[in-house]
Amino acid sequence: MKFFVDTADIDDIRALAATGMLDGVTTNPSLIKKAGKDFIPLIADICSVVDGPVSAEVAATDYETMIKEGRKLVSIADNVTVKVPLTPAGLRVCKELSDDGTMVNVTLCFNAAQAILAAKAGAAFISPFVGRLDDIAADGMNLISEIVTIYDNYPHWHTEILVASVRHPMHIVDSAMMGADVVTCPPDVIRKLYDHPLTEKGLDAFVEDWKKTGQSIL
Ligand code: G3P
Repeated sequence: MKFFVDTADIDDIRALAATGMLDGVTTNPSLIKKAGKDFIPLIADICSVVDGPVSAEVAATDYETMIKEGRKLVSIADNVTVKVPLTPAGLRVCKELSDDGTMVNVTLCFNAAQAILAAKAGAAFISPFVGRLDDIAADGMNLISEIVTIYDNYPHWHTEILVASVRHPMHIVDSAMMGADVVTCPPDVIRKLYDHPLTEKGLDAFVEDWKKTGQSIL
């Protein structure tokens, strides 16, 4: 399973890239607003830090402007993935850019029918938003299970399931259990994956006992 980070904070991206376990980045207009930097140079910076796909989202909602924005975003770096909304115009842009060999991430997916459309449009990634479904008392992870089943039925579809709107470590564990291809997570959620009180307690005991041996490995 691939790990993407869902942020436009370049410092967080650098720190996570240094772990060697970061496979890509996703951004959206809200994350760009939060970062408070100019969009195009920021995406270029992120692409220079991370080798994997970096999602940059179009701002327009009409086909004509979206396709121009998409082509401009693609020109920033080889690893830019154009992110488009799951609308008729967005899927038209997805089909056209995908046919030209551009990676497209179709975002704002909230049901399996929409995920079928994205695969038909040749998307490299479909982004189902699990947290936002949970927020309205729906079952976000059930959507992932449905999409995994559907995509497995059609091996010629190459769309990867990119679990988005991840809120906590169990979203990641459940995504892995279901066989989702990618999770994109806020930096804090990735950091939480490391945490276990028994790990800390056990390490403290090992450190103390090692000191008592009076030995040194180096
Ligand atoms: O990048 C899209 C998605 O991950 C947004 O998550 O937390 O705003 O629902 P959230």
